[in-house]
Amino acid sequence: MDALTLLTADHNRVRGLFARFTGAKESDDIGTMAELAALIDHELDVHTTIEEEVFYPWAHDLSENIAEVVDEGVEEHHVVKLLLGEVAELTPEDDEWVAKMTVIIENVEHHAEEEETEMFLQIRSASSGDDLQDLAGRLEARKADLGAPVLADKQDMTMDELRRLAADQEIPGRSSMDHDELAATVSPG
Ligand SMILES: [Fe+2]
Ligand SMILES: [Fe+2]
Repeated sequence: MDALTLLTADHNRVRGLFARFTGAKESDDIGTMAELAALIDHELDVHTTIEEEVFYPWAHDLSENIAEVVDEGVEEHHVVKLLLGEVAELTPEDDEWVAKMTVIIENVEHHAEEEETEMFLQIRSASSGDDLQDLAGRLEARKADLGAPVLADKQDMTMDELRRLAADQEIPGRSSMDHDELAATVSPG
């Protein structure tokens, strides 16, 4: 699996958490919102770390246009990290906590969309398939260092298990994903 597909799988796993957070918010389920916020915080921490330490520095050297989008990406991460830091100082019962979480979700949705529709497309045409495969290995290695699940941990799961997890985790686009895409996307449960 190439690096861009792996990063997109991370995005879709987080989008699933966002969908569940929004559902919990609509039913005023503060306990579930707090649990999901902790998962969101952790996922974003791992994802922004592997992007900033491995993916962005590599992509930055590909072209001037890509460097510009990457620089914007770093600043978008920064804004979300500031908000996550502020959320950590509040309690979920607080209206401000909910407002900040909602803005974090909006920001990350916008950022992930921009990566997929602008940055990743430019990178795909500026790099080779082999380079993207090598990069995937480096992203997975860093993720494993951070103690996060990687594709290899989930690759032996059956299609039925993966589909069940993807449905529970409200992963968007799951019905058109193949086995490995599902395996890369779901949390091991
Ligand atoms: Fe990013
Ligand atoms: Fe990303």
